[in-house]
Amino acid sequence: MARSGLSLFFLFSFVHIALLPSLCFAADPTIFYDFRFSYITASPLGVPQQVIAVNGEFPGPIVNSTTNYNVVANVWNDLDEDLLMTWSGIQMRRDSWQDGVLGTNCPIHPKMNWTYQFQVKDQIGSFFYFPSLNFQRASGGFGPFIVTNRDIIPIPFAQPDGEIVIMIGDWYARNHTALRSALDAGKDLGMPDGVLINGKGPYQYNTTLVPDGILYETIHVDPGKTYRLRVHNVGVSTCLNFRIENHFLILAETEGYYTTQQNLTNLDIHVGQSYSFLVTMDQNASSDYYIVASARFVNESLWQRVTGVAVLHYSNSKGAVTGPLPDPPNDFYDKSAPVNQAKSIRQNVSASGARPNPQGSFHYGSINVTDTYVIEIVPPVMINGTLRATLNGISFVRPDTPFRLADKYKVKGEYKLDFPSRPLNRPARMDRSIINATYKGFIEVIFQNNDTVVQSVHIDGYSFFMVGMDFGEWTEESRNNYNKWDAISRSTTQVFPGGWTAVFVSLDNVGVWNIRSDNLDRWYLGQETYMRIVNPEESGKTEMDAPDNVLYCGALQYLSKDQKTKNSAVSVSMGNSKLLFSLLLALFALISIIS
Ligand SMILES: *[C@@H]1O[C@H](CO)[C@@H](O)[C@H](O)[C@H]1NC(C)=O
Ligand SMILES: *[C@@H]1O[C@H](CO)[C@@H](O)[C@H](O)[C@H]1NC(C)=O
Ligand SMILES: *[C@@H]1O[C@H](CO)[C@@H](O)[C@H](O)[C@H]1NC(C)=O
Ligand SMILES: *[C@@H]1O[C@H](CO)[C@@H](O)[C@H](O)[C@H]1NC(C)=O
Ligand SMILES: *[C@@H]1O[C@H](CO)[C@@H](O)[C@H](O)[C@H]1NC(C)=O
Ligand SMILES: *[C@@H]1O[C@H](CO)[C@@H](O)[C@H](O)[C@H]1NC(C)=O
Ligand SMILES: *[C@@H]1O[C@H](CO)[C@@H](O)[C@H](O)[C@H]1NC(C)=O
Ligand SMILES: *[C@@H]1O[C@H](CO)[C@@H](O)[C@H](O)[C@H]1NC(C)=O
Ligand SMILES: *[C@@H]1O[C@H](CO)[C@@H](O)[C@H](O)[C@H]1NC(C)=O
Ligand SMILES: *[C@@H]1O[C@H](CO)[C@@H](O)[C@H](O)[C@H]1NC(C)=O
Ligand SMILES: *[C@@H]1O[C@H](CO)[C@@H](O)[C@H](O)[C@H]1NC(C)=O
Ligand SMILES: *[C@@H]1O[C@H](CO)[C@@H](O)[C@H](O)[C@H]1NC(C)=O
Repeated sequence: MARSGLSLFFLFSFVHIALLPSLCFAADPTIFYDFRFSYITASPLGVPQQVIAVNGEFPGPIVNSTTNYNVVANVWNDLDEDLLMTWSGIQMRRDSWQDGVLGTNCPIHPKMNWTYQFQVKDQIGSFFYFPSLNFQRASGGFGPFIVTNRDIIPIPFAQPDGEIVIMIGDWYARNHTALRSALDAGKDLGMPDGVLINGKGPYQYNTTLVPDGILYETIHVDPGKTYRLRVHNVGVSTCLNFRIENHFLILAETEGYYTTQQNLTNLDIHVGQSYSFLVTMDQNASSDYYIVASARFVNESLWQRVTGVAVLHYSNSKGAVTGPLPDPPNDFYDKSAPVNQAKSIRQNVSASGARPNPQGSFHYGSINVTDTYVIEIVPPVMINGTLRATLNGISFVRPDTPFRLADKYKVKGEYKLDFPSRPLNRPARMDRSIINATYKGFIEVIFQNNDTVVQSVHIDGYSFFMVGMDFGEWTEESRNNYNKWDAISRSTTQVFPGGWTAVFVSLDNVGVWNIRSDNLDRWYLGQETYMRIVNPEESGKTEMDAPDNVLYCGALQYLSKDQKTKNSAVSVSMGNSKLLFSLLLALFALISIIS
């Protein structure tokens, strides 16, 4: 087991794993976490600033679960503003009540806590969590979320000798409130001040570019061993090229699906994306090696300081690493190279996923599309005197009342089901237009990027098949080149400026789900919408009811009870029957072990 810089030691001090497989009602184990969000002072780029820590750690601790585990996460808000924790790529099947964005949850107010409770149903892979409100992710609060496969399900490669988590992201020396003020004033955020790797600044590979005294990340490995690296881009808006000097990266998984394995020297990781690489430590350790995450699709000679550098240290290393960084991809004159790389990431159709049946057993290419949505992204525009970002000309107005909660209490007017399925020739506006999607439909969504920057788009509650990507304007003929056989299934995809990306989504998960730009600045300025999927014959089977501890706000504020924050270990006064039940079972199991 490699030291990943994310302390596992600390993890065990607050995670209790209740293994209850023998009890008939609790076939799936439950893991309990407490996540306390607070400000700490850190100087990742050499300048002290407030960052958001989780349980005192930056980045936050690892959630390490297994397919079908139940996760109970009590989130404590010690910040000075509202908080919601969201779980990028975790599908929350039938349970959008736990998704942690404003259209699904009321915010957790400062000094309050709220307990998420969900199952990682039929999932495997590499994900991450982060605070979804108010630009907070730019100050931290993120951490990895791993779902390992059940022992009975084979993985499509030899069991690695260890696991290493690497969180990369662009970073500003200004905190999230300062960045927010800039956006509110209609300003561009400008070039980031650096790139962090696991919350740490760059190794001093060049004394001109990197000041003295910066704490950098060191990844410790043993020679000859093969590790699974789970790499996540948790940054604000910069795509990063990831590479390790002298080492090959075998791409094996992305956001919950195994890929056909490819032998790469580097990969572009867009904001919000997650990848697993198998890396064999097959070098002679004459020195340490550089691990690099450098800015892409910007003027790289101007953006030199936007480079993250960590150190790969073999246990038999003979010395520090020196010399130039390994080269970034040299494809300036080959515009199609990044698109070709993205399209080369394909699903291993014969590998088992979370279930023993092959990932390719759902033949998405032979299903008829029921609806097509063309969603256009353009540069931010002025609406009513403020700078806003749009999808199909609509800049989303922040929700006051979660939409399914509004439905449950028959509150009208919280949203409109009129999100246009094509860009309309009308002035941009502020609205709460969401997609009226059809349960069990099979939709095609084309993201057309007319903005000047590369965008990441993300859909909550689902994985989608990334069937096509190209430059230019999407047309019906573009369908002829779709990958209808082994397109990768994922939850976050890039859309190049002046280009488009097409995805297929099978609408089998009832609820209301966020569709957004994962570029934090665009998202903050309103580049999001939701997709509402209800089963007209709902009988409690395809969608869960609101949890007992549901929070109320907005039009339903009057239902809100003052959430008491008792600090006792087994306070079960919360009236959450599911949790109470788990706790009682845990107690029961404990008693039976003791006796
Ligand atoms: C963020 O930075 C501003 C100054 O730029 C400072 O006034 C404010 O207290 C900081 N906020 C937090 C939460 O640290
Ligand atoms: C997660 O837990 C599994 C065992 O369930 C272990 O093999 C793996 O190393 C853990 N991963 C991390 C990153 O802690
Ligand atoms: C807040 O934490 C306490 C103590 O763990 C717990 O009993 C309570 O249920 C939590 N509140 C909510 C709303 O989850
Ligand atoms: C360090 O970076 C500067 C600025 O890019 C460059 O001019 C210089 O050659 C670099 N130094 C070394 C030793 O590579
Ligand atoms: C990856 O490619 C390099 C160079 O072609 C080769 O030396 C190496 O063995 C390959 N690794 C794997 C695991 O195939
Ligand atoms: C170790 O590998 C490097 C790069 O491949 C090579 O330049 C160097 O000569 C090797 N050193 C030894 C002692 O084999
Ligand atoms: C990048 O910026 C430099 C310095 O301003 C400029 O000379 C160069 O032409 C730019 N390169 C591109 C590709 O725009
Ligand atoms: C696909 O998965 C199978 C396991 O089912 C594995 O044996 C094979 O090597 C994988 N192929 C590629 C190209 O990744
Ligand atoms: C798809 O549509 C075609 C033409 O409309 C029809 O012939 C075919 O049966 C449909 N296939 C499925 C699986 O529904
Ligand atoms: C501008 O604001 C006014 C008042 O808040 C509102 O009625 C109007 O719809 C807004 N215009 C747009 C284009 O959103
Ligand atoms: C939403 O779509 C359903 C059919 O899927 C339709 O019956 C309903 O009228 C639509 N609602 C609105 C408000 O358009
Ligand atoms: C932007 O979109 C329009 C159509 O809406 C298209 O005609 C134009 O070529 C696009 N521009 C770019 C730079 O993609």
